[in-house]
Amino acid sequence: PETHALQGLRLLISAGPTYEDIDPVRYVGNRSSGKMGYALAAAAAGLGAQVVLVSGPVQLPTPSGVQRIDVRSAAQMREAVLNALPADIYIGAAAVSDYTPRQVAAQKLKKTADSQSLVIELVRTPDILAEVAAQTQSLKLVVGFAAETHDVEKYARGKLVDKRLDLVIANQVGISGGGFESDNNAATAFWQDGEQVFPATSKRELAEQLLALIARRLQA
Ligand code: PMT
Repeated sequence: PETHALQGLRLLISAGPTYEDIDPVRYVGNRSSGKMGYALAAAAAGLGAQVVLVSGPVQLPTPSGVQRIDVRSAAQMREAVLNALPADIYIGAAAVSDYTPRQVAAQKLKKTADSQSLVIELVRTPDILAEVAAQTQSLKLVVGFAAETHDVEKYARGKLVDKRLDLVIANQVGISGGGFESDNNAATAFWQDGEQVFPATSKRELAEQLLALIARRLQA
């Protein structure tokens, strides 16, 4: 019943990977399937929220009742997210690339007979989540994910503080049965003066549980 708190609210959710082009045929990407973010979008729409889903390249159908905006790169995702504001709640579930090639080659990079290695220079992408969290006008709650392979709590609490978030959902990646690609996931949510463990379950079920927590944090 507490999740009725989301009824009519505008939720902006990012999901999936970003692809950072190297040349017309190659890119830097990651293993995100979009399943976690899409599950959140579907569950939120089911609770009567007005959901805008900014999605990187994924192989998933658009959840019913959700407005979906497709993007490819981190730069495009940033623009789409900022253009979709204002929102009541932002949930950054996308695995945004932290780096992008300094230049996109106009033509396919060719290997040459004398080059046994190739160096591609990468530059930092803007942090979309931190930028959204810095826009204080309308947002009631800014939620980030933290995908970590180790020291999960330390890094997750670091992101909560550094990016000035209301809530961080930490999930361990690089393990089987959770994180990227899997239909299942486990997580621990951290906020300033609390935390909650969510044991492994389907991403669908986890999404419902996370939205219940988000509704409670909204009222806190
Ligand atoms: O898509 P699935 O296969 O279902 O997998 C789900 C998931 C593991 C991708 C998801 O649950 C998850 O953890 N998403 C965040 C992945 C990530 O990029 O984590 P991070 O720790 O690198 O980033 C922290 C936060 O900053 C995230 O909310 C991310 O969206 C945001 N970020 C990061 C970099 C950047 N340039 N801009 C951002 O907004």
